[in-house]
Amino acid sequence: MGTKEKIIELTRQYYTEQLQSSEFTPGETYVNYAGRVFDDDELTNLIESSLDFWLTAGRYAAQFESEFSEFMGTRSCMLTNSGSSANLLALSALTSDKLGPRQVKPGDEIITVAASFPTTVAPIYQNQLVPVYCDIDLGTCNINIEELENAVSSKTKGIFLAHTLGNPFNIDAVMRIKEKHDLWLIEDNCDALGSKWDGKMTGTFGDMGTESFYPAHHITMGEGGAVITDNPQLKKIVRSFRDWGKDCWCDSGMDNTCGKRFEWQLGDLPYGYDHKFIFSHIGYNLKVTDMQAAVGVAQLKKLPGFVRSRRDNFAFLHEFFEQYSGHFILPQWQDKAEPSWFGFFLTVKEEAPFSKNQIVAFLEESKIATRTLFAGNVLRQPAFADKEYRAVSELRNTDYVVENGFWIGVYPGIDKQRMQYIVTAFEEFLTRF
Ligand SMILES: Cc1ncc(COP(=O)(O)O)c(C=O)c1O
Repeated sequence: MGTKEKIIELTRQYYTEQLQSSEFTPGETYVNYAGRVFDDDELTNLIESSLDFWLTAGRYAAQFESEFSEFMGTRSCMLTNSGSSANLLALSALTSDKLGPRQVKPGDEIITVAASFPTTVAPIYQNQLVPVYCDIDLGTCNINIEELENAVSSKTKGIFLAHTLGNPFNIDAVMRIKEKHDLWLIEDNCDALGSKWDGKMTGTFGDMGTESFYPAHHITMGEGGAVITDNPQLKKIVRSFRDWGKDCWCDSGMDNTCGKRFEWQLGDLPYGYDHKFIFSHIGYNLKVTDMQAAVGVAQLKKLPGFVRSRRDNFAFLHEFFEQYSGHFILPQWQDKAEPSWFGFFLTVKEEAPFSKNQIVAFLEESKIATRTLFAGNVLRQPAFADKEYRAVSELRNTDYVVENGFWIGVYPGIDKQRMQYIVTAFEEFLTRF
């Protein structure tokens, strides 16, 4: 056996000895809302990539991008170092002058919701654009379509929305408004990997979709994300913003992919200036390392099973909670939606005999993790308070969710035993009333 084979074998042994255990003691073991689910395949891929010592994006990144594009049914996938970076890249791409009359310029408006993860809306501010906030519907926690229709002004250039907690927003309605007003659409698919609308993957309807591979998400690389698109021009622009702003599209370690590396003349540079060092955008470096991608390659194989577990866990909880629909607004979804759920969201009704804070405190004491709907209403967050924006309404449902909403996990790490523990704990609390 060669040295590498020995290392791989020992790695598998290490996994079994040190990492495999998942013993559960009710009331003692924390039932998290999300987390990494992996086995020795992720670990051996990680070790193999470290032994390659390529470090920056390489063979695993290329493999992941190709396999992920195939899984999603999209033409291209560009890996990046986080979902937040993917959001930043997707929106920044729209500010490229290569888009001619469709270029998004400072002061233009982007429609979104305030019930968001902060880095879905942060790129709007970071690009000197103006967010236009619409309210959400209770039950789906997705954009209210009537408000979306009313939000469009002569300055509106795009729509940037997440499929909240894996639940697809009304894609037919959003696409109709996008097309009617010739707007860009970016789908933040970070919480919705594997969700479908009318049989097609969410994230592939808009001009671009974004993904996150942070450990809480459907699959993980530790840190990681991606932008997906079918549009070759956007692909090139996203890559440029991701890779320092360069005009050249060679992969790391490659030269002269265009076949005329020393035959370009751009800007005021002399003819023949090395294309590798011509910059067409004010860019970033948001690339992924090959070790992250290596973990992702192993995770991707498990994704269909993960999606099934999430749906099963969600269905189990939904069935359980039907008896308590007097106390909670239960999750709702559109007829064409097949969500790959990120979590199970509960909104405590006004008439319930307990508050959200009471039930959340009980669950956390019972070692069951809860989460809010991310930033809740970003406008109530210190970072966003004094920034320019437009709101279509008072965002009443958004505020209702801030005060009364929370969610628990459905991730594949919650097995039958843990699921049973969760519903028993809820029963204990709810039978008090
Ligand atoms: C909807 C949504 N978008 C974007 C992100 C940011 O992803 P990341 O943590 O990979 O930066 C998250 C975070 O988890 C998210 O929930």
